[in-house]
Amino acid sequence: GDVRLWGARFADGPSEALAKLSASVHFDWRLAPYDIAGSRAHARALRTAGLLTEDELRRMIEGLDQLEADVADGSFTGTVADEDVHTALERGLLERLGPDLGGKLRAGRSRNDQIATLFRMYLRDHARILGGLLADLQEALTGLARAHQDVAMPGRTHLQHAQPVLFSHHVLAHGQALSRDAERLRQWDTRTAVSPYGSGALAGSSLGLDPQAVARELGFEHGSSANSIDGTAARDFAAEFAFITAMIGVDLSKIAEEIILWNTKEFSFVTLHDAFSTGSSIMPQKKNPDIAELARGKSGRLIGNLTGLLATLKALPLAYNRDLQEDKEPVFDSCDQLELLLPAFTGMLATLTVNRERMEELAPAGFSLATDIAEWLVKQGVPFRVAHEVAGECVKVCEAEGIELDQLTDEQFTQISPHLTPEVREVLQVKGALAARDGRGGTAPSSVAVQLAEVTADLALQ
Ligand code: ARG
Repeated sequence: GDVRLWGARFADGPSEALAKLSASVHFDWRLAPYDIAGSRAHARALRTAGLLTEDELRRMIEGLDQLEADVADGSFTGTVADEDVHTALERGLLERLGPDLGGKLRAGRSRNDQIATLFRMYLRDHARILGGLLADLQEALTGLARAHQDVAMPGRTHLQHAQPVLFSHHVLAHGQALSRDAERLRQWDTRTAVSPYGSGALAGSSLGLDPQAVARELGFEHGSSANSIDGTAARDFAAEFAFITAMIGVDLSKIAEEIILWNTKEFSFVTLHDAFSTGSSIMPQKKNPDIAELARGKSGRLIGNLTGLLATLKALPLAYNRDLQEDKEPVFDSCDQLELLLPAFTGMLATLTVNRERMEELAPAGFSLATDIAEWLVKQGVPFRVAHEVAGECVKVCEAEGIELDQLTDEQFTQISPHLTPEVREVLQVKGALAARDGRGGTAPSSVAVQLAEVTADLALQ
């Protein structure tokens, strides 16, 4: 028979060109387990409405269970002749139950409310998977911070040496960004816990079905859609998911960029583990940071998935339009890419070696303690405007003589300003400069310990 769900009013079957264009089963087949779960819930709603007998429901559920097992072991799959996952699974059910019973399940539902529901279910599961992978990454980041808690490094703005900071402080800054990403996923999930099932094609159903019961069975904590038109047409949940995954990609790319720089001969801040770096086919000495580069590259792809989806959604009239079939591939791709990338990225961070000596050697370089001279002067009662100028003068003299700030003599200091007594030398040590910044969020070891404890506690809650 005709596998199409809509063939009756057509004299001719679809052209081959249309069938090929229209087919989505090659990418929506991954929704099959969710479609079957939806069918089970829908069958119960039909029973409650008196549209299936108890015996019919029992046989329907058995048929769906059998179909589910056959999908799981691969003995039943969709083919190009099945337009989409819903059509393929209806064919499978008809094959198992016969047309009389199998043909009853489609009452009161549409592929429009089905797809909107299944897409949410799939993404909610993957939001949880991504949350777990992000937590693993956080473990690696906090592990890195904990293992090198008191290592100083040059903190940068504009990529120039700015002020020394603790390496752990820097690493935990990335941790903060990732915590917010994880929180975004959780908040997204709360908003997405609404089931469109029961919205029908757009207008709801005349069959007395209970969409709230279906929502409960499918795990949607916030019930069914308040508006069936919105239920079938809204895809902001998909766009928001694409944004969160793009944001994760961007946050990873920022870590990646630093790893790539730190792993160069010039920086020599870190060395990547052999198992998480690659070689060159021609240059035997090479050890390349491919994971970090792929992260940087994939962030572009994730951004593309978001912008492509938004462009698809722009200016669509209500309610369902076939344009919406284009919504799934980009978002599935964002899941797939991050699920590949995150474990490798975590492994790279968990295994890299930190070159403490190199970081600490460079921490005070580039006159990064000039601010400390200025702030020391402020504590002596000098207005900051003057203090800034005096510290700037110190830098100028050092540059002219090719020396560092702590190499200025007592005479040079007093020549620059009578306020610069030899006691200023105390703040020209990295250790002192770090320890002085002991307010909340600062780079002092005591402040960073608080940050580390907070991120660790946050991780334990997830
Ligand atoms: N395959 C469609 C999609 O992904 C769902 C089915 C709705 N199709 C339709 N012709 N109304 O959006």
